[in-house]
Amino acid sequence: MRVITFDEFIAINQEKHPEATGELSGLLRDIGLASKIVNRDLSKAGLVDAILGDANEINVQGEEVKKLDIIANEVLKKCLQNSGQCCGIASEEEEDFVAFKNRKKAKYVVLFDPLDGSSNIDVIAPVGTIFSVFERVSKAGELCTLEDFLQTGEKQVAAGYVIYGSSTMLVYTTGEGVNGFTLDPTIGEFCLSHPDIKTPASAKTYSVNQGNYHSFPENVKKFVDYCQDTTDKKAFSLRYIGSMVADFHRNLLKGGIFMYPATKDSPKGKLRLMYECNPMAFLQEQADGKATNGTQRILEIVPTKLHQRTAVYIGSKKFVEMLVGFNNVTINPVELFDFVKNKIFSNPIL
Ligand code: AHG
Ligand code: MN
Ligand code: MN
Repeated sequence: MRVITFDEFIAINQEKHPEATGELSGLLRDIGLASKIVNRDLSKAGLVDAILGDANEINVQGEEVKKLDIIANEVLKKCLQNSGQCCGIASEEEEDFVAFKNRKKAKYVVLFDPLDGSSNIDVIAPVGTIFSVFERVSKAGELCTLEDFLQTGEKQVAAGYVIYGSSTMLVYTTGEGVNGFTLDPTIGEFCLSHPDIKTPASAKTYSVNQGNYHSFPENVKKFVDYCQDTTDKKAFSLRYIGSMVADFHRNLLKGGIFMYPATKDSPKGKLRLMYECNPMAFLQEQADGKATNGTQRILEIVPTKLHQRTAVYIGSKKFVEMLVGFNNVTINPVELFDFVKNKIFSNPIL
């Protein structure tokens, strides 16, 4: 089979749109390049003492920052500034957005989580980079503004992630389906390995930090109880890596639901709308899945702050619908299983 590289794939898609200027294509290629550099730095993490471990800094979210978070942040920032297509960035690791003074004419802003699941690095578990691209709303030729970044997820023109695991893979969408590219380290290219990814409508995997069970909202508790109940003879599996990219990636390909509800410690949810939930919601919807905060579609949430957090339930359509269904219905445990069977599992699509 002929190998199609990421850069080639972007060029082929651009040709399908005669109106395209190539600016977004260039931007995506630069994100691909940045992730290869991050991948290289990560692969040395276990060997080089200087870059492994804590950076003795606290990020704007009040969390401990690992050195590689900072390195990945700098790599992405530099690559995007060098790309002529990006007028500014916002990052989980930056207090405020950064307007590129030498790129006032550029059309796009990029928001990113440079290293997701970074606490996993010390134990060599998968981590990732997540990105989200918007077209600016301010006038080209001037410095970009906060309004360029605070757009609803529906306005994203591209989004994706890179997972650094047993292989490194880049998965992205521009609103025309989801495609995945695995890095071939021998040639240093991302190669199309997972064309047109679709998430199965239903599945048997749920992903949640169940240690927080006692502070979950009632519908989430019911859902988790249902997943664990043996009387229904449906064996569900709990899979939780603690790195959103890795948990999401598994569920995107195999089906399942990833949940991070509001909890006692994180009353507004833990994950960030702009850097984590919006890009993943765009991908998940493009792959036929769903993403909600429990009451509202993630992509319709109007952001008020760059570092805004939200509860998130994302994955296979039927799974997410079931969870939301529990929200709207008061069910006692005896009725619970009939409700689920009728609402979800009697559906002929399944
Ligand atoms: P980050 O490393 O960018 O701060 O993200 C960590 C996030 C996310 O990747 C993961 O799903 C979640 O934190 C895990 O949180 P818990 O340890 O509370 O389960
Ligand atoms: Mn993260
Ligand atoms: Mn991070």
